[in-house]
Amino acid sequence: MTRILEVEDLKVHFKVGGFSLLAKPPPVKAVDGVSFYINEGETLGLAGETGSGKSTIAKVLVGLYKPTSGRIRFMGQEIEFDNRGHITFLRRNIGIVFQDPVSSLNPRLRVRDIIREALVAAGVDRREHDEKIAHIVPLVGLRPSSLDSYPRQLSGGEKQRVSLARALVVPKKLLILDEPTSSLDVSVQAQVLNTLRKLKSELGLSYLFITHDLNVLKYMSNRMCVMFYGKLVESGPTKSVINHPKHPYTQELVANLLRKGESSSVVIREHQPSFEGCIYKRICPYVMSECSQTHPPLYQVAEEHSVACYLSKAGVPAH
Ligand SMILES: Nc1ncnc2c1ncn2[C@@H]1O[C@H](COP(=O)(O)OP(=O)(O)OP(=O)(O)O)[C@@H](O)[C@H]1O
Ligand SMILES: [Mg+2]
Repeated sequence: MTRILEVEDLKVHFKVGGFSLLAKPPPVKAVDGVSFYINEGETLGLAGETGSGKSTIAKVLVGLYKPTSGRIRFMGQEIEFDNRGHITFLRRNIGIVFQDPVSSLNPRLRVRDIIREALVAAGVDRREHDEKIAHIVPLVGLRPSSLDSYPRQLSGGEKQRVSLARALVVPKKLLILDEPTSSLDVSVQAQVLNTLRKLKSELGLSYLFITHDLNVLKYMSNRMCVMFYGKLVESGPTKSVINHPKHPYTQELVANLLRKGESSSVVIREHQPSFEGCIYKRICPYVMSECSQTHPPLYQVAEEHSVACYLSKAGVPAH
C-alpha cells in the first residue's frame, strides 16, 4: 500500500504572550512528538478531547502553521515549510473542511461564487469554471438551484455540502475533515457521512477525519489515533482500538461511548499539564512509579496497534 502522508515526530509549540519580566511562561505544546501515516484510499481517524492538538495538526498540513520540528512527507515529497512551492503543493492537493459552516462561508457571496473562489485561487481558466461547478455540485449532494442562494438561506447540512464542494472543486488527493458534522443534527449528520463515504471512492480520495465522536470513527475510519494533550496515546485499526482499547484514556473514551450510546464525546479537563513523566499520570487509575519519569514510548500490542503506556510493555498485561 502506498503511503500518501507520513508525519514523523511532529511538534508544534506556541510561544504565549506574557508581560512579566521575571519569568517567561512555558510554550503551549499543542502537538508534542506525534507520528502517523495515511495510506492511499483510507480514512485515518483522529480523536481526542478539546485542546488535544487535532486542529493544529490539520493546520500544519494545509500550510497554515509551521511546525516547530518534525518531518512531513506528502505524495513522496519531503515538505520544507520555508519553501513556498512546497506550501503551494500542500494546498493544491490537500483540502480541508472545518466544523463551523457559518463562519467559514462568506455571507455576502452566493454559493456559486463561494465555490468559484476556490477555482480562482487555483488559477483555473475562467472558461472552465461553470463546467467544474456543475460537476461537483451533484456529487456533494447539493441541488443545482442552491447555487443562486446565499449561505443564510441554506440548512446546516447544505452549508457543509457547500464547504465540501469548495474544497473539492479543484481535485484533491487528501481531504481533512475537522469535526465536519459536529454542528449538525444526528439525521443530517448521517446523510453527510454517507455522502463523504461515497465521495471518497468516486474521487479516489484519502481522509484525515477529526472528531470527538468515536461512533463517527467507527463508521468512517479504517485506522484511528487517539491524542491527549499533544501526544499520541494509542493508534491502530479502528475495530481493534475500540473493541480492545489498551490505554487507560482510550478505555475511558470507550466506556463513555458504551454509557451514552449516541454521543461519546469526552470529559473536558482544564489543566494544561507541565510536569515530567506520562501526560496522563494525574488522571490515570493505574499510575505506577515508572510513570513519573518520562512519557512512555509507543509499545506495539497487536498488528499495527500501538499504545503509549507502561502497562502495555511486553509481558505486562494491559487492562
Ligand atoms: N495560534 C495559537 N497560539 C497559541 N496557542 C494555540 C494556537 N492554536 C492552538 N493553540 C493551543 O494549542 C492547543 C491545541 O489546540 P487545537 O485547536 O489544536 O485543539 P483541538 O484538539 O483541535 O481542540 P477542539 O476539539 O476544541 O477543536 C490548545 O491548548 C490551544 O489553546
Ligand atoms: Mg479543533
